[in-house]
Amino acid sequence: MAFSSTFFDAPVERRGSDSLKWGVYAGNDVLPLWVADMDFLSAPAVTEAMSRRAAHGVYGYAQDSRAAVEALIDYHRDHYGFAIDRAWVIPVPGLVCGLNILCRAVGAPGDAVATTVPVYPPFLEAPGLSGRALVTAPMARDASGRPAFDLAALDAALPPATRLFILCNPHNPLGRAWTPAELRDLLAFCRARGILVCSDEIHGGLVLDPPHAYTPAACAAPEFADTLVTLLAPSKTYNLPGLSCAFAVIPDPGTRQCFRHAMAGIVPHVNLFGWVAAEAAYRHAEPWRLGLLDYLRANRDTVSAAARAWGVAMPPVEATYLAWLDFRPWLDRMDGLAPAKFFLAHGVGLMDGAPFGAPGFARLNFATRRDLLATALDRLSRCGLFT
Ligand SMILES: Cc1ncc(COP(=O)(O)O)c(C=O)c1O
Repeated sequence: MAFSSTFFDAPVERRGSDSLKWGVYAGNDVLPLWVADMDFLSAPAVTEAMSRRAAHGVYGYAQDSRAAVEALIDYHRDHYGFAIDRAWVIPVPGLVCGLNILCRAVGAPGDAVATTVPVYPPFLEAPGLSGRALVTAPMARDASGRPAFDLAALDAALPPATRLFILCNPHNPLGRAWTPAELRDLLAFCRARGILVCSDEIHGGLVLDPPHAYTPAACAAPEFADTLVTLLAPSKTYNLPGLSCAFAVIPDPGTRQCFRHAMAGIVPHVNLFGWVAAEAAYRHAEPWRLGLLDYLRANRDTVSAAARAWGVAMPPVEATYLAWLDFRPWLDRMDGLAPAKFFLAHGVGLMDGAPFGAPGFARLNFATRRDLLATALDRLSRCGLFT
């Protein structure tokens, strides 16, 4: 079955469905384009698998699903040539959870954890929550103006006790699908300094168009496998984040043991329905994903055109469904408000740049129906800044 735009255009009422994205604005006329989930119906293969499981009627403790882990392994081998050994896989209820476990598992209190900014806010929060020092370096631009790693800036920023670097691949919020060469350079840089890399690859299935592609960090430098931890999940690509199923892939036995020790007795098992949905998504939802990418690509182009018309800088979105908008030139006309607060008063909920380490920016989630996106962009156009 092919999934055309008609499928993704289908109106779905998320108000009153315990949706975080919509619920925070309950009772207000605000279109929520903030937290990263999608307003679309899931793949029918996922819904059918969940319905079958629900109809069973017994919801006791689940054991780790061998079938779902095998689906994860087959999927990554077949799509990306990423060879994952079953012994390397530790199921976790979320990537943020995995990230926080890893910060506690690596090094000792007081050691440093590094990343680049702007970045997904939990990368900036996890080190402090784990008694580690956060070190950041700014992203740069490459010769063609794309966001790029600045290894010299990173080198200057890193204290000797840096034990972990957190990488976002593909990148939220900058939308880059890193090339094998970029990943290799970064991994080699970290390796030379004895730094473990945690690669968050939750957006891997959301590369929007060629020539861009998702390269697992593990495939860019297979010889560095023992200093790499990859975090994977079907949740972003297949819109299952409410089902809490993710995976840490840890080839090095010592790191794996430290990770298991840090999570012991604290981290709950993956939910029964999370397993069912993950297996169905990896095995049976490829036609849905391809239809989704068509839909997102067109939405991305609509948002880019609007940003161009407003004169707002926005890096090309190679991957993800997130646009990163630079409102710094208009800050003095926002009544002293941060961009997200300012636009909220105009009926659009964006995610402010400040928690990403970039005040003056905002992130717009365009994974919504086209009629809603058009209304939201119209509201932004009429906010009085871009005339
Ligand atoms: C880069 C990145 N990692 C992790 C997450 C969240 O993962 P989880 O819901 O599995 O904790 C998100 C959600 O937007 C994300 O963008």
